[in-house]
Amino acid sequence: MYTGVPTVKQTAVYVYQAPVRIWHWVTALSITILAITGYLIGSPLPTLPGEASDHYLMGYIRFFHFAAAYIFIVGFLFRIYWAFVGNSYSRQLFSLPFWRRRFWSELAHELRWYAFLEKEPRKYIGHNPLAHLFMVVIITVGGLVMIVTGLALYSEQSGLGSWQDELFGWVIPFVGQSQDVRMWHHWGMWIIVVFVMLHVYTAIREDIMSRQSLISTMISGWRMFKDDRP
Ligand code: HEM
Ligand code: HEM
Repeated sequence: MYTGVPTVKQTAVYVYQAPVRIWHWVTALSITILAITGYLIGSPLPTLPGEASDHYLMGYIRFFHFAAAYIFIVGFLFRIYWAFVGNSYSRQLFSLPFWRRRFWSELAHELRWYAFLEKEPRKYIGHNPLAHLFMVVIITVGGLVMIVTGLALYSEQSGLGSWQDELFGWVIPFVGQSQDVRMWHHWGMWIIVVFVMLHVYTAIREDIMSRQSLISTMISGWRMFKDDRP
């Protein structure tokens, strides 16, 4: 078809179902709040004049941390459920083709592509192998570690016999002592923060460079593959 203006053919595939997309943005928001409030718990603001219970600054910071934490936990449990009932792409976050040689060779290609050493990007309907690996390790495994260590720390406040203590209290003597758990929980934050920075950079970069949609895919669910031929 000749239209007189440059045209591009696009193929669209429905990849991320609504629950996955809603979960993604709710989790992104909760992790942002967790990282900011967590940082302020670890490195508190200067002391304010007057009674602490009057201005309640630290209390509010901790309240927002715990509120975002429970949203993150409920979202995480829901996301596990959705991996069972959702489409095949919703399962990627919980499975890695670790033993498949092709996965690793494609991952090496992806690394070269990000390092500007490859001219042609590979196209994937779901996650590319590099994104896939990091999402599983940092968000699924790392998220679980944050939940377990976070609830163990919480059990020190909810007290002996609370459900947090019954289910996660053992983590503290297992890791060493309370301060060790706090340190791992804190390190976990920095690992997740670095992931998010790389994640946002690569999402924007791929959207521009790889001739397929990314950010709009996490909004509408549809992946558009651009074809050069009209
Ligand atoms: C991505 C998720 C999370 C991030 C980035 C994060 C970050 C942090 C950081 C940096 C601290 C300060 C540690 C320190 O003292 O240096 C902290 C404390 C804490 N976090 Fe989290 N956290 C997350 C998830 C959770 C979850 C799921 C819970 C579960 C309830 C939780 C409960 C706690 C508790 C109880 C403390 C100690 C508060 C206190 O001692 O006043 N966190 N968090
Ligand atoms: C705290 C912030 C964020 C976290 C923890 C996070 C985490 C994740 C995770 C776990 C996935 C996989 C989804 C699944 O398979 O269920 C994902 C996908 C995605 N995220 Fe994020 N995200 C964050 C922020 C953002 C932001 C700000 C953007 C936009 C610039 C973004 C763009 C995307 C895109 C485009 C995908 C799909 C990638 C693909 O199709 O391979 N994310 N993200």
